[in-house]
Amino acid sequence: MVPKITSLSGYLHEYQRSIANPTGFWANIAETFFWRKKWDNILSWDFHKPKVEWFKGGKLNITENIFERHLFQRGEQTALIWEPNNPNEATRKYTYEELFLEVKSFANVLRNHAVKKGDRVAIYLPMVPELTIAMLACARIGAIHSVIFAGFSSNALAERIQDAEAKVLITSDGGFRGDKIINLKDTADEALAKCPTVDSNIVVKRTSQNIQWNNKIDFWWHDEMDKACEDAPSEVMDAEDPLFILYTSGSTGQPKGVLHTIGGYMIYTAYTFRNVFQYSSGDVYFCAADIGWITGHSYIVYGPLLEGATTVMFEGTPLYPTPSRYWEIINKHEVNQFYTSPTALRSLMSKGQEWIEKFNMPSLRVLGTVGEPINEEAWHWYHDHVGGNKCPIVDTWWQTETGGMMISPLAGVIPTKPAFATLPLPGIQPLIVDNEGDKLCGNSVEGNLCIKFPWPGIARTLWNNHDRYSDVYFGKYKGLFYTGDGVRRDEDGYYRILGRMDDVINVSGHRLGTAEIENAINEHPLVTESAVIGYKHEIKGKAIFAFVVCNHIPEGADDELKNSIGKGVSMMISAIARPDKILFVEGLPKTRSGKIMRRILRKIVENNGDYGDISTLLNPDIVEQIEIQYKDI
Ligand code: WT7
Repeated sequence: MVPKITSLSGYLHEYQRSIANPTGFWANIAETFFWRKKWDNILSWDFHKPKVEWFKGGKLNITENIFERHLFQRGEQTALIWEPNNPNEATRKYTYEELFLEVKSFANVLRNHAVKKGDRVAIYLPMVPELTIAMLACARIGAIHSVIFAGFSSNALAERIQDAEAKVLITSDGGFRGDKIINLKDTADEALAKCPTVDSNIVVKRTSQNIQWNNKIDFWWHDEMDKACEDAPSEVMDAEDPLFILYTSGSTGQPKGVLHTIGGYMIYTAYTFRNVFQYSSGDVYFCAADIGWITGHSYIVYGPLLEGATTVMFEGTPLYPTPSRYWEIINKHEVNQFYTSPTALRSLMSKGQEWIEKFNMPSLRVLGTVGEPINEEAWHWYHDHVGGNKCPIVDTWWQTETGGMMISPLAGVIPTKPAFATLPLPGIQPLIVDNEGDKLCGNSVEGNLCIKFPWPGIARTLWNNHDRYSDVYFGKYKGLFYTGDGVRRDEDGYYRILGRMDDVINVSGHRLGTAEIENAINEHPLVTESAVIGYKHEIKGKAIFAFVVCNHIPEGADDELKNSIGKGVSMMISAIARPDKILFVEGLPKTRSGKIMRRILRKIVENNGDYGDISTLLNPDIVEQIEIQYKDI
């Protein structure tokens, strides 16, 4: 197990050590894992190239670190508790031994479908245990998984499968979410029509609904498992071989295939999991995120299972069948650490006290949040009503690209302040720069958050696009990893994350690029162009505002047109990306080189008349025009 810091002085000491001697620090942690062969070199890096390699030459399999390493001690301990959408359906539990058998069998299914080391496997599943099993089976045989959130449309799914050139897709007939049934197989079929690289589509039976069946490529999960042998030797991998690709949004339209490699990600997720949550053997840990996002990868699957934890996986939503669902799950499984998003908290808070007041949750010790800035009101509600004033809150700041948590309290070890992610974890060297790239030293400063030294969990590249990786993360401030977030370091040296500084909008903790939403809007036959911005929203944090220019709006058809534009975005991307508000305008403010000035649109929506010098715009008059129209709505 990785070492655990248990006091503030211990943290200060470890932090100093991790900065003074990063390679020694991480090598000590790496040594607690099981390696087939030790590494040749701890770290080799250059943020200018950019290149990062940790533990190169080290040979291992991450599933041996989850299973073989723990079996002797905890074969019969519960590894995974699966809580279904409908509380009347039975919970499923897997011990480490049982989960291992499933993983090995499915590893053989993949091998039977000719999946080899380095091949990509796309996974488009709801929150069912098979999702965890499929990911680990890929890791067992050295295949690279690419999980695609089950809320994505067929178009978005196809785009991701094509980019990764996946050989196999794993999906289900359908999925349960609240009172809805999602037709995953239909969506997958539509996507597969555009994905010639996929030879097999393995389908988990979940809803038993009617589906189309294509004998050439469709295979039932359970049939394939029945045929598979239970013994699956693991592929010996290099620490720097890819573990997975996870697509995320950026400033431009194309999703980015963030690539994580095995060794560094393993060490980093395990270390941060144990320390931030102060996990102790025997605790039950519940992260309510979806595995379709990085939080689920790192802190439902890999981090907890690497540390021999009992991890809860929940299929449903916080509001079904009532807004007490999380609290029921926490009591039912005697959860000790609970991790969720500010949006979920705000939405539960808005439903009223009656849904929580009859639950005192004596097992709870630690509460966590992730994904977006938490406002003080939600922080206090979480602290007082969920945690009964006795649980520290860990506000964990990190990103898909960082692999694991970066700035966060260690529960009960680092004193917290509402809405502050507090201090960097050991090994993390944040740097704040102004817009010119000049370093801002000392406390009471605000600027762009960068990281100046590699940590083991940093993404190594973007799939098939190292140039874009280089541009996006290392191009803006030379020699630094740029996060895209604004940050304030207060008078005590505590960090408060202010939110995205780039063209990314964080809606309910989901990250969306303005360009990808605009591209989807622009697909509408009546739309000429559009600009999308985020605006403050009570529950979602940020909501989406779209300014749309049409070539023609049929008389009296404004609402109908807004509706069909919204539907188009849901179809092209996902319902999450559907604009909350649309305003039809005559034109958009642009620079002389034709760049849309979203900054000005943001100010219009914030009712902040201070636009700066707009005389250099291509069309300065349009600003006032939009302002008047905006005030009318
Ligand atoms: C962006 C990353 C990290 C897993 C889930 C989201 C925002 C994340 C916090 C936090 C304020 C946060 C940032 C970041 N963010 N955590 N604790 N406080 N903002 O991963 O989709 O890659 O999004 O989420 O803006 O850049 P992601």
